[in-house]
Amino acid sequence: MEPFRIKSVEPIPFPTAAQRRNSLAQAGFNLFRVPARQVTVDLLTDSGTAAMSAAQWSAVFSGDESYAGARSYEGFEAVVRELTGMPEVIPVHQGRAAERILFGALLRPGEISVANTHFDTTAASVTAAGAPCVDLPCCVDSTDEFGGNIDLEGLERVLRGPERVRCVVLTVTDNAGGGQPVSPANLAEVRRLCAPRGITVLLDASRFAENAYLVTRRDPEWARTSIPDVVRAMFDLADGCFASLKKDGLANTGGLIALRDTALARDCRDRLIEVEGFPTYGGLAGRDLEALTQGLREVVDPRYLEYRAESASWFAGQLEAAGFPVLRPTGCHAVYVDAAALLPHIPAAELPATALANALYLAGAVRVTDLGTLVFGGPDPEGGPDRPAPREWVRFALPRRVYTRNHLEYVAGIAAQVAAKATALSGYRILEQARTLRHFTAVLAPLGEPVPFEH
Ligand code: F0G
Repeated sequence: MEPFRIKSVEPIPFPTAAQRRNSLAQAGFNLFRVPARQVTVDLLTDSGTAAMSAAQWSAVFSGDESYAGARSYEGFEAVVRELTGMPEVIPVHQGRAAERILFGALLRPGEISVANTHFDTTAASVTAAGAPCVDLPCCVDSTDEFGGNIDLEGLERVLRGPERVRCVVLTVTDNAGGGQPVSPANLAEVRRLCAPRGITVLLDASRFAENAYLVTRRDPEWARTSIPDVVRAMFDLADGCFASLKKDGLANTGGLIALRDTALARDCRDRLIEVEGFPTYGGLAGRDLEALTQGLREVVDPRYLEYRAESASWFAGQLEAAGFPVLRPTGCHAVYVDAAALLPHIPAAELPATALANALYLAGAVRVTDLGTLVFGGPDPEGGPDRPAPREWVRFALPRRVYTRNHLEYVAGIAAQVAAKATALSGYRILEQARTLRHFTAVLAPLGEPVPFEH
């Protein structure tokens, strides 16, 4: 059960079928453009959507809002140093700010960045620094216990090749690859390959605590190690990290760069001053730093992490019972459903993941994310059909400490209604799209008539 009780509540909206149809059409059939007041259960993201604890809310009140050298920075620096062992601690307002600053300082044109998978915003910052991204996930349809691992043979091949590898990034957990963990053994091997070549090993540590918990459950060697010790063992193998603290920071905003290299940290701070503010607040209010400091202490609680992993696994079972093909084993932050398997009649170019996500909205105002061709595919430069993504997943992200089993049972009920009408669903085409990260703003059009749902 939830290892907390609820102290503050917020009513949720219940739009009618007509309102849902209208909202989706007005949003150009893109769930990112649907107003939250038209959503009943919002599983769009686990980012910035956490419920804060009473201890966090009281810490908020003691925020020091001094421009320079605020006391709130000192607490934040101390907890990050304790967790990571890294001396240079730089707050930023969210993960992509960390990425833009760090990769801007680290990469030069002609160099490349290799990763298990660069998350989409990470890839955007690496590319903006003039460096191509190479993704080497260990397995595409992961049923592996450590499906987030990087393909070590592939990495060795790239290291022996002509390209100049500047950094290797391990995203823990691998959000683009089903939320699967990276093992300490895989990271140790990456370090062994990179250290003699002077290649920087970085963690995208946005879900570092969830990764550590899954390590203790999936690798008997680590079963008796405390979460903070696993966390520390992982950071000890890296030269630096960046993170969106909107996830395992258990707060609504925030991000981080932590490094060992003082010269690189100085360059990051200089860049930070141009775009984020002063290096002791990095685009955050003192009260945000206080919420994060407390959140980072709470997130390594094994009872909380157990509840989180167990709810994801239980929810996956509910979706399976509803007829959805689910990725197993589940991680912590989301359940991933294979839209291509459920909707084999919709080709990748007609966006099956979008079709499934939109049907869930129309059926019951449930909002999930498309992680298929709209997100990871791309337009054909010659104007032909879209380049397909490797997988057509829909992600049911689980905001931290927000929804109970009753809410998720409601979602499973809606999923059953959608599964019953799966063969009648049709795809979408793109009318308008941005140059990068197109899924946030794209305008779409349905390729068939909408399927009616019950209520
Ligand atoms: N890295 C990972 C692994 C992420 O999942 C995200 C964000 C970021 C970096 C960027 O962080 O949003 O704070 O700028 N993921 C969100 C999601 C958006 O829904 O998965 P940000």
